[in-house]
Amino acid sequence: SAPGPRTATGREVETQPDARAQAGDRLTTAQGVPLRETDHSLRAGERGPTLLQDHHLREKVMHFDHERIPERVVHARGAAAHGVFRSYGRASSFCCAQFLQADQETPVFVRFSTVLGSRGSADTVRDTRGFAVKFYTQEGNFDLVGNNIPVFFIQDAIKFPDVIHAGKPHPDREIPQAQSAHDTFWDFVSLHTEAQHHTLWNMSDRGIPRSYRTMEGFGVHTFRLVAEDGSTCLAKFHWKPESGVHSLVWEEAQLAAGIDPDLHRRDLADAIESGALPRWTLGVQLFEDGDATFEGIDLLDPTKIVPEELAPVQPLGELVLTRNPSNYFAETEQVAFHAGHFVRGIDATDDPLLQGRLFSYLDTQITRLGGPNFAQIPVNRPHVPVDDMQRDGFHQQGVHQGVAPYRPNSLDGGCPFLAGESGFIDVPAPVPQSSKTRDTPASFSDHFSQPRMFWRSLSPVEQRHTVDAYAFELSKVYEPAIRERQLEQLARIDSQLCEAVAARLGLPVPSADLGADPGPVESSPALSQVGGRWP
Ligand code: HEM
Repeated sequence: SAPGPRTATGREVETQPDARAQAGDRLTTAQGVPLRETDHSLRAGERGPTLLQDHHLREKVMHFDHERIPERVVHARGAAAHGVFRSYGRASSFCCAQFLQADQETPVFVRFSTVLGSRGSADTVRDTRGFAVKFYTQEGNFDLVGNNIPVFFIQDAIKFPDVIHAGKPHPDREIPQAQSAHDTFWDFVSLHTEAQHHTLWNMSDRGIPRSYRTMEGFGVHTFRLVAEDGSTCLAKFHWKPESGVHSLVWEEAQLAAGIDPDLHRRDLADAIESGALPRWTLGVQLFEDGDATFEGIDLLDPTKIVPEELAPVQPLGELVLTRNPSNYFAETEQVAFHAGHFVRGIDATDDPLLQGRLFSYLDTQITRLGGPNFAQIPVNRPHVPVDDMQRDGFHQQGVHQGVAPYRPNSLDGGCPFLAGESGFIDVPAPVPQSSKTRDTPASFSDHFSQPRMFWRSLSPVEQRHTVDAYAFELSKVYEPAIRERQLEQLARIDSQLCEAVAARLGLPVPSADLGADPGPVESSPALSQVGGRWP
């Protein structure tokens, strides 16, 4: 197991053993008092009232009463596995992160999830899937908290509560669970046209993956990488499944939701147990650091991809999942990913969605995991010594030594030293000379060219599935104005897509003069350009 925390002087801090509640060969109370009996409460006579004096009854029921913690506000339904990441050693010229150098093997914990459903919802619903990877590197933990879709619904984190409120079940009846077949979702995405690209991916076969093992993963945002010589570049992360990208068809997905709502978590666990180990290649698209644009695409806009034919994905290493968790709660439920867990050599950019995420994850985990000490939960502990000078708080496991958790200090026989050149690098990236504003840049305003490019990259059968999905989901929308507005957005993406969906819904095609259409894109790239197999 991972080494425990250390004191300011480097001494390992005493912690309770992890298996504290399951040690020894006798049943005890939580206080370690051996028990003769646990099946019958203490009563005043065989048929009399139960006595408040029964300390074992009260302790047992009290603990049970508090077994549940809040589920994640999003991505509540998930499954996870341990594994290893093996670097190909090809990153040294552009990124100094230790785990990407030659001959490095790094333990990982990976959690896959749906976004909108509650913890007990079905696996095969039409939704985005989370793809979160915690790398326990020798320079501390790095989390790549991505999705199976390369773009996001919104461009600014301030709208995240709104898009989730719109996507979650209606607050009156709390239906539907984890499907996009309802008025609030379509109201939101038809009013916020930046959401059309992500929604189109959801309506395509990508919205119903066959297995977690056959999903691509994407870091979505553009990140900044730093080389040992201090030079920087921008990067987008990709996971390519070595078993290829495969989806269900809608009928399979619906049947599975009824017959085996655990299909994806069962498939993941069974594959690992039987030795068919799931594998992905991690790759990056690289861009020059500078004004964060590439071929007219604003790299800070998370609703845009960069076609792979313009910027090929360069392989960096292989992820293999090797071991199932032994306890769902301890590992899969208590794992705390954070988009801001960076290591030396990897840093954030000014993407306004990423900037908001840097706040949100730690904040939500204080509530979900009961206070600020969740980094001490075994699955979250770095696999390196920790001396963070943090003290106390709910669920503190460390018994810290010494009197001076600050630096410099002259009382504690020394104080934690700073890593100097080998420590985390805050890139001195220039801050734009500008006044405070809530305005959106003009480069974020084209919401239709990329969905059009994605639609035109689909094969005829994929296009048919996508039309079927729009028709199914929109047919569940009660409010006619919302259906009509969404058809207008489809017309802005592609007239044939719009006509096909309108025909299936028995609705008229919106008038041709919609305005705000940036015009057709020049070319229709192949699927490989928008996230397919290795060339
Ligand atoms: C959870 C991905 C945007 C807030 C997650 C998880 C993933 C994810 C994979 C599940 C982690 C797990 O398995 O435990 C993404 C991606 C985003 C995005 C790829 C956009 C590119 C946002 C934004 C916010 C946000 C903009 C808020 C401003 C949250 C919260 C959780 C979460 C609060 C629950 C975390 C927890 O309870 O531990 N996200 N997310 N996400 N996300 Fe995001």
